[in-house]
Amino acid sequence: MALIKKEVVDQIIQQADIVEVVGDFVDLKKKGQNMWACCPFHHEKSPSFSVAPKKGIYKCFGCGKAGNSVQFIMDVEGTSYVEALRYLAKKYSIDIEEDQSPAAVQAQNERDSLYILSDFAKKYFVNALHKNDEGQSIGMPYFKQRGLSAATIQKFELGYSLDSWDDFTKAALEKGYQLKYLEETGLTIVKQEESKQYDRFRGRVMFPIHNVSGRTIGFGARTLKSNDKKSPKYVNSPESRIYHKSDVLYGMFQAKQAIRQEDECFLVEGYLDVLSLHQGGIENVVASSGTSLTENQIKLIGRYTKNITVLYDGDPAGIKASLRGIDLILEGGLNVNVVLFPDGDDPDSYIRKVGDTAFREYLKAHSQDFISFKSELFAKEAKDNPVKKAEAIREMVVSIAKIPDAIKRSVFLKQCSIQFGIDEQVLISEYNKIHLSEQKASRNQPPQPTSYGSSFDEMAAEAEAAAAAEAAMYEEEDQQEADQTSVLKLREREVIRWVLNYADKEVDEGLTASQFILSELEDIEFRTPIYKRLFEMCKLKLEQGFVPSASEFMQHEDKEIRHEVIDLVSEKYEISDGWATHEIFVPHESDLIVYGTEREVLRLKWRNVQLMIKNHMNELPNIHNDQELDKCLRTIKTLKELEKQIADMLGIVVS
Ligand code: GTP
Ligand code: MN
Repeated sequence: MALIKKEVVDQIIQQADIVEVVGDFVDLKKKGQNMWACCPFHHEKSPSFSVAPKKGIYKCFGCGKAGNSVQFIMDVEGTSYVEALRYLAKKYSIDIEEDQSPAAVQAQNERDSLYILSDFAKKYFVNALHKNDEGQSIGMPYFKQRGLSAATIQKFELGYSLDSWDDFTKAALEKGYQLKYLEETGLTIVKQEESKQYDRFRGRVMFPIHNVSGRTIGFGARTLKSNDKKSPKYVNSPESRIYHKSDVLYGMFQAKQAIRQEDECFLVEGYLDVLSLHQGGIENVVASSGTSLTENQIKLIGRYTKNITVLYDGDPAGIKASLRGIDLILEGGLNVNVVLFPDGDDPDSYIRKVGDTAFREYLKAHSQDFISFKSELFAKEAKDNPVKKAEAIREMVVSIAKIPDAIKRSVFLKQCSIQFGIDEQVLISEYNKIHLSEQKASRNQPPQPTSYGSSFDEMAAEAEAAAAAEAAMYEEEDQQEADQTSVLKLREREVIRWVLNYADKEVDEGLTASQFILSELEDIEFRTPIYKRLFEMCKLKLEQGFVPSASEFMQHEDKEIRHEVIDLVSEKYEISDGWATHEIFVPHESDLIVYGTEREVLRLKWRNVQLMIKNHMNELPNIHNDQELDKCLRTIKTLKELEKQIADMLGIVVS
């Protein structure tokens, strides 16, 4: 990475006049010592954004944003520190001798050549639209028929490519542009064998694609024929060193200011959708250009706002296909709303049909948060079909699990439980499974200790902490490299602790925690003598129709039993091992009886199966009979499958 010298940085900061720098973006008015404007970072009607020229700083008393010139560029353009310095250096013609190695210089020069060529092409197509007969008689009428105004055509630098084989390529070569750049930008297609070259875009209306700073980096080109089966509706520039499709959103350059102002970004599919909405005064709109959204595109939007509203045309297949893309937005921590258009209309056709005002009202009235949109979509389908319902619920939880904010998650989990008419606990435990497996998948990111204030103690926040703690706990157990017996001992102890502490708590209709645990573990052989005894004692009590009672066991004649039970019960309001050592705030386990009992049972089963696998493996070298060997191997295989099943239920990824 190229470095900018300290002296140069100082020089930039010194020369970058805050009033000039800010003045490029907002209209500053002098009032007293300072200058004032409406804040470019949040929506407001009266100015609370101030610039103090003497101090060289800005501060908004509305939203709190503040800093010097460099910070302002970072905020307003969403750039990094170095990019902001470069911007200012350029503005003040300061030389920043960055990396001057010949290779770096050449790469930069080549990229510059691609930019310059793309700019030439854009101007060429604009000129063809406005000055050429064919452009005037064919291209322009098409735009007019699509309802585009002269202002829109100008603002988006729309153009036309003549219906000829190599008109553009010839002109470019004549001007001295090199063929290799024409080829890389895809403006010219070179056929090596025939040593021929021809224009990629022929007889099409041209939509230049800009990067965020307004430089042309590629093109989309639409055929004028309304249904031509032979050629594609759109032809686009290929990837090049300046055009990375997955990093670009159509219209971002023209939209970014409005996106920041409105603190919202509308996401549409097509070029024409962007243009029509923009023309209708909705300027905070960009298009994904028909492909599914990428992480970088979401990050790009995230520079300007955290609120995305996706505008869908009402085609159910298309909607289903794009749901995953939206999960990606959720994962990026952005808020997603959805507006669905009547079947057969896209945003472009709809705004032209009903007009700007009605369109805005439609947006307001039909905007719905993504999670409820999705759960409505699935709830409808899942009606009266339990299999589909289970699938739908999982689908929902997958989406909700993507939301990084615990509070939002908990709200959505609650909402979803109401919508599907199922217990929130079920959703939470489903959520935990997903979360935990993700945690395991990214082992190199240790769970972050989280401290939630008391007002934040929503279920999901707690569940998240619990899941993180769970992951940490297994790691700890594994790390100890302890022999599996001591791991098992711990698990057996925990199970007994749950039985004794929550013996008569209901986990299901008419089923208590102790009944549940004991019936689940009927076939398990406890290996630690003291817990084996306690387990048997509990079992006997249940069989006799009593609740296994810790207070009764505390009176037991055997000292060892008395001590152990007291030990187990006095932990009642403490946190279990792994959780405590990681200083993670966890809910009282007594709030999560259903979740907790299920989990304890599974954990013990899991460790038990692991031990059985190990024992069988250890047996292998001692077997000298083929038949026996075969049998043992088959047992191991079955056990391994079982281990995997349990791990899945626990949400653990087993390698
Ligand atoms: P109109 O049909 O003229 O209204 O254009 P549109 O921009 O609304 O296109 P549409 O909704 O059909 O498709 C959305 C986007 O998908 C377009 O803007 C293009 O970016 C892309 N797209 C559509 N058709 C094609 C195609 O045939 N090839 C390629 N490469 N992209 C396409
Ligand atoms: Mn369209």
